[in-house]
Amino acid sequence: MQDTRLQEPLVQLSFESEHRSPELSVIVPTLNEAPNVELVVGALVASLRGIDWEVIFVDDDSNDGTTNVVRLIARRDGRVRCIRRIGRRGLAGATMEGMLSSSAPVIAIMDGDMQHDVSLLPEMLRRVRAGDDLVIGSRFYHTGSAADGLSRTRLGGSRVATRLARTFLHIDVSDPMSGFFAIRRPAFEALAPRLSTKGFKILMDILASTPQPLRTSEMPLRFRARQHGVSKLDNLVAAEYLSLLLAKLTGDVLSLRFVMFALIGGFGVVVHLATLKMALAFGLTFSLAQMTAAYVAMTGNFFLNNILTYRDRRLRGWRLITGLASFWIVCSMGVVANVGAAQLVHEQASKWWLAGLAGAALGAVFNYVATSMFTWRAR
Ligand code: GDD
Ligand code: MN
Repeated sequence: MQDTRLQEPLVQLSFESEHRSPELSVIVPTLNEAPNVELVVGALVASLRGIDWEVIFVDDDSNDGTTNVVRLIARRDGRVRCIRRIGRRGLAGATMEGMLSSSAPVIAIMDGDMQHDVSLLPEMLRRVRAGDDLVIGSRFYHTGSAADGLSRTRLGGSRVATRLARTFLHIDVSDPMSGFFAIRRPAFEALAPRLSTKGFKILMDILASTPQPLRTSEMPLRFRARQHGVSKLDNLVAAEYLSLLLAKLTGDVLSLRFVMFALIGGFGVVVHLATLKMALAFGLTFSLAQMTAAYVAMTGNFFLNNILTYRDRRLRGWRLITGLASFWIVCSMGVVANVGAAQLVHEQASKWWLAGLAGAALGAVFNYVATSMFTWRAR
């Protein structure tokens, strides 16, 4: 059966109005982009003559007055809208919220720092009108380029990430990391429930999650240098990216968060063994050395999870101390679950490695579920 959500709804309306709504919604996620907002709106006004458009800035409560600037402009121009999100962080989530807040048949996503070339938008729109589901502004297609806007390291990282996506997820566009694209609304609405609101790779998520292949085309994009301010993406995005890749590889059976949690857990084993070796070299008794190693590894894992896995709920100040304590308690209980499960499997199957693996897996799941409830509770 065909998914009816991919088509426009087949309802006959008698409702009529003189107020036309826009054909194109441009979604601009912002975090401290106050000096860029007016430039972005100016560029849109200049490029989109003759088109019915609106722009929606989705701001994660910037502290530089970004929303004030947006609202000031919005009072003069009704095509400008603003969503101010409080207590939430994240590029993908903000972008989704903006897309879901509009009703235009075509949605475009772009950055709010003038790195994207707005003059591509009319052609993107034309292609969607002509039948494309998705049009990507690509830095690695034909005359596109990224060198002006990205450091050498970021550029290298972007290339590796693209190659991984091609190999493992069979995504065959030249720039799945691009933050500049246009999509047909029904295609997006059908996909929306599958997308992760965490992280920042929304295009890649769309490409990896779509049930039907999307009719996709690319346009060369010269990714320019930022106008004002600095990039909000740091090196942590690499870890986030790998987790998204793994989550998609498991067909979303494992969530992005769990994959990251488990990866850090694996790293904790290495820390544990290294500490154990050192503690023994210092002359500690074995059980004392083992205990020291366990708490060092747990503490390391707590901080890593706090900055990576739960960067959107990061604990600070006093809550860091109580969080660490609850993490210790949960993980100590995790050991009990681990050993219990391993024993059970060992009695049944008497394969030591299978039992060990089963115990570790159950321990990881227990720790994940319990720490998400107690240590990093959603507020
Ligand atoms: N609402 C919201 N919340 N907006 C955010 C957040 C957030 O947590 N983080 C970043 N933004 C906004 C920025 O204000 C900017 O308008 C846009 O998202 C892109 O962020 P940048 O910080 O400028 O990212 P970049 O230039 O380093 O990365 C760009 O290139 C990448 C490919 O290398 C972006 O287009 C990425 O999406 C893209 O993957
Ligand atoms: Mn940027």
